[in-house]
Amino acid sequence: MTITLAFDIYGTLIDTHGVKLSLAAMVGEKADAFSNLWREKQLEYSFRRGLMQNYQDFAVCTRDALEYCCKQLDEDLSPEQKQQLLQEYRTLPAFPDVEPCLQQLKARDYRMFAFSNGAANAVTGLLQHAGIEKYFDGVVSVDEIKSFKPNPEVYNHFLKRTGVNSANAWLVSSNPFDVIGAISAGMSAAWVQRSPKAVFDPWGIEPTITVSSLTQLDAGISDYTN
Ligand code: LAC
Repeated sequence: MTITLAFDIYGTLIDTHGVKLSLAAMVGEKADAFSNLWREKQLEYSFRRGLMQNYQDFAVCTRDALEYCCKQLDEDLSPEQKQQLLQEYRTLPAFPDVEPCLQQLKARDYRMFAFSNGAANAVTGLLQHAGIEKYFDGVVSVDEIKSFKPNPEVYNHFLKRTGVNSANAWLVSSNPFDVIGAISAGMSAAWVQRSPKAVFDPWGIEPTITVSSLTQLDAGISDYTN
C-alpha cells in the first residue's frame, strides 16, 4: 500500500524562530526569550481555542501571542514593528534538511501533504516562498473543520480528506503534542528531534520512529515498514 505522509509545518518544515534577527533589532538580548515565548503562547492559544470551541484562524493566535509577549516582556513595539514581525511570519524559512528530505521521499512515490494548524493560504504561501510546494500533493488545514491539533477530529479529517486508512498514514512532526495526537488517532508518527535537548512528553505514548534530522526520515520509514 502507498504510504501517505502528513508533514507538520510550523516547527517541523518551517523554522518559527526565523524572526529572531528582526526581533534582535527590536528587543536586543531578549530576542531568544521573546521568540520562545511567542511560539509557546501561540500554541497555548490554539489549544485553548480548540477546547473552548472558540475557533479563530491560527494567524489570530499568532497575533494575540505577539501582543502577550510585548506585555509580558515589557517591550513596547510600535504597530509597524508588530506588522513587520507578522509579515515575516508569512515568509518564515524552511529548515536546511527539508528539501533533501522531500527529494528522497518523492523518489519513493509516497503521497505527501502539508498538514497544519495554519490556514491553507498561509501554509501555501510558506511552501511557495521556500520553493518546496512542488513536492506536495496538497495542503490539509485544520481550518477546514475549525479546530486545532491535537483534537482527534483533526487527524481523522486528514485521513478522510486524503482518502487513506490510518494504517498507511504517517505524521511527521517535531512537536511532541502533535506526534502523541496522531498516534492516539491511530496513525503512525515520526518525531523529528532536532536537538538532543528536546524532550518527548513522558505520557507512555512513544513515536513510531524518532529521527534527529529529516534526512533520516526516508531510511527510518523504510526500515520500519519493511
Ligand atoms: C502546525 C503547528 C503544530 O503547523 O505548528 O500545525
